[in-house]
Amino acid sequence: MNQKDIKQVGVVGGGTMGFGIAINFALWGGYPTIIQDLKESILDQSAKQIRSSLKLFIEEDLITPEQAKEALDKITLTTDLAELANKSDFVTEAIVEILPDKQKIFQDLDRLCPPHTIFVSNTSSFVVSEIGIGIGRQDKIGLTHYFAPPHIVPGVEVAGTPDTSENTHEIIDSLMKATNRIPIRVKKEIPGYLINRIQAAMEQEALQLWSEEVATAEEIEKGIKATFGFRMPHEGPMSHYDLAGIWKWPYSARMAPKMLNESADPMSDKIKNRIVEGTPWFLEPENFDETVERRDREYIRRLKTLYSELT
Ligand SMILES: NC(=O)c1ccc[n+]([C@@H]2O[C@H](COP(=O)([O-])OP(=O)(O)OC[C@H]3O[C@@H](n4cnc5c(N)ncnc54)[C@H](O)[C@@H]3O)[C@@H](O)[C@H]2O)c1
Repeated sequence: MNQKDIKQVGVVGGGTMGFGIAINFALWGGYPTIIQDLKESILDQSAKQIRSSLKLFIEEDLITPEQAKEALDKITLTTDLAELANKSDFVTEAIVEILPDKQKIFQDLDRLCPPHTIFVSNTSSFVVSEIGIGIGRQDKIGLTHYFAPPHIVPGVEVAGTPDTSENTHEIIDSLMKATNRIPIRVKKEIPGYLINRIQAAMEQEALQLWSEEVATAEEIEKGIKATFGFRMPHEGPMSHYDLAGIWKWPYSARMAPKMLNESADPMSDKIKNRIVEGTPWFLEPENFDETVERRDREYIRRLKTLYSELT
């Protein structure tokens, strides 16, 4: 099986995440998409949110009214899980974050879907092998973890369990690309996976510093948006090491994590060794000056548009 064999997709749960995930499949992927939820009244709300999101896309010139209509025509809604299961070659589970409920959905889908159907979960905090425990098709389950609003934020974490087949990984990856998403491959199953863990580390530190009255909530918010938040569209934590030239600093100065609270975990040998090496992650050292200039030009362009918000 490959991505071309996916003719229809299902989304279980039409809430905050589910309706937006369905938009991606119908609008960008062109897939007939069926959403299942518990009650008609909830599905009415999903349909309303889909329509108003597509209207915003039109108003912001992202899509044409014809594209919106085509997408809407591709989306159907049901309260019957069997109807979704019969029709779907790929199912995204996006129900409430309660482990037994998610496990029950995977079990029901396993019973109701054709044997080739792939199931992915949008869980934020559980690992997929726990959600799919005991079902057949262990090679056909995985994670697609979207970020709200999922029809706008392009990045999606993708991961498998230890039993997920390479073929399933490939299909998940290509489906994400076919629906205009940017898949971020996470190699291991850990609670919270990758991005939420990084985000949580920052949020935890911000809360801690606020509670110690180091700064007000307003100053913390402003400080992040006006500094590394400003750089973020161009520079993540690895390329910051490269572009700030930290790899050129003396070893003792490169040990930036010592700034963290004493409660933070001690640095592992793997991290220490990487810092001892003092080599950039992505940058060719001989291209440092021109890379920094390119970055600066990009920042200046961003500054021109953002300056009014920062003052
Ligand atoms: N909201 C976010 O920012 C966010 C971001 C990433 C991941 N997630 C994850 O996505 C999932 C959904 O979150 P959400 O924010 O959309 O929640 P939500 O409460 O907005 O929507 C969940 C939907 O699932 C439905 N539902 C519950 N049990 C069901 C069942 N047995 N069968 C069918 N439908 C059922 C509910 O009626 C509801 O409409 C969760 O696992 C959450 O952790 C949420």
